[in-house]
Amino acid sequence: MTSHPNPRPLPVPAPAHADPLSDTRGRALRDLRISVTDRCNFRCTYCMPKEVFGKDFQFLERGALLSFGEINRLVRLFRDQGVEKIRITGGEPLVRRKLEVLIEMLAYWDDLDLTLTTNGSLLAQKAQALKDAGLKRVTVSLDSLDDTVFRAMNDVDFPVARVLEGIEAADRAGLAPIKVNMVVKRGVNDHTVVDMARFFKGSGHILRFIEFMDVGSTNGWQMQHVVPSRELVSRLDEVFGIESLDPNYTGEVAERWRYRDGSGEVGFISSVTQAFCRDCTRARLSAEGSLYTCLFATRGTDLRALLRADASDEEISAQIARIWRARTDRYSEIRTEDTAKQRKVEMSYIGG
Ligand code: GTP
Ligand code: 5AD
Ligand code: SF4
Ligand code: SF4
Repeated sequence: MTSHPNPRPLPVPAPAHADPLSDTRGRALRDLRISVTDRCNFRCTYCMPKEVFGKDFQFLERGALLSFGEINRLVRLFRDQGVEKIRITGGEPLVRRKLEVLIEMLAYWDDLDLTLTTNGSLLAQKAQALKDAGLKRVTVSLDSLDDTVFRAMNDVDFPVARVLEGIEAADRAGLAPIKVNMVVKRGVNDHTVVDMARFFKGSGHILRFIEFMDVGSTNGWQMQHVVPSRELVSRLDEVFGIESLDPNYTGEVAERWRYRDGSGEVGFISSVTQAFCRDCTRARLSAEGSLYTCLFATRGTDLRALLRADASDEEISAQIARIWRARTDRYSEIRTEDTAKQRKVEMSYIGG
């Protein structure tokens, strides 16, 4: 591992704010989701359809990406503004070379919840190094246990078994609690929901069902493809018996349920049918350093320009504060079939 880039021997506690940062709807800034690459080795049909993200697609150049040092500096400044949780995303974050070096830098801030969302394809090789670097836990995307269905959804013929090996490696490395995200699309994988639940029931991992969302402008979203979480709750209740649980914290994205027989927990992420914007405390940083205040944003603010123009910490912090104080986003609350067709930033660019 590299020598440590953070100047102080131990992180000082994040400052208690006399005037905590709050947006126009009274929401604090608590989470920062950082995309470390816009590339991915999958072509999930609902995220990076091959027709758009083909051989000729122009991904970001290496020099356009924030360096690990730049990301680390921003994390320090965001933490000073009240951020408590960092999620590393992509594209697929594990395709970024030496990601564990970034993790080691960020783990220095030991009061931050440091986690990562991955498609699991490289996790079997990487899990132990990530744990050693200080990653606390992981979330793995897996859309079906049916190999034919999964291979068609990731559209690169990637087998289920290798994602399961990744999950096992993460478990052995101690990256728990492991969450498994399944995007449910009607007519595509919704018939495999019960099998998925049965497989992870009792495993200690938390399976979450995500309603198919109209992120970006390339995935051909239509309301008829969305399976409302209510429908899945009823299906699972009929088969296994489930009951609702209180949220772990205000603004938690997933609604929590437990199996009545005590064999674990499942979650439902219902951005389409039960919007959770009211308590949304999430900011997103693209791989090239633009700050977005909503997953469905059309525009971000370039922080990289400030970083590379040698702006002071105070100047960058002031810019972050200005952006957050002006924030009005509540896209999921005002979504219509028309807004769904508008041009928005792609999920592979901004992170999930
Ligand atoms: P933990 O509570 O730390 O486990 O994180 P989380 O529940 O936020 O989970 P995760 O970050 O894995 O988010 C799960 C999925 O929910 C994402 O991949 C998105 O699909 C969706 N999601 C997360 N945050 C938002 C959000 O702010 N808005 C919308 N519409 N969807 C979101
Ligand atoms: N709708 C819902 N979830 C999506 N994800 C990617 N695209 C979509 C979409 N259109 C999920 C992935 C992964 C996380 C990063 O976001 O499956 O779990
Ligand atoms: Fe890649 Fe994740 Fe998008 Fe699938 S959902 S294409 S794994 S970034
Ligand atoms: Fe937050 Fe935007 Fe998602 Fe609403 S739609 S929860 S404001 S990211």
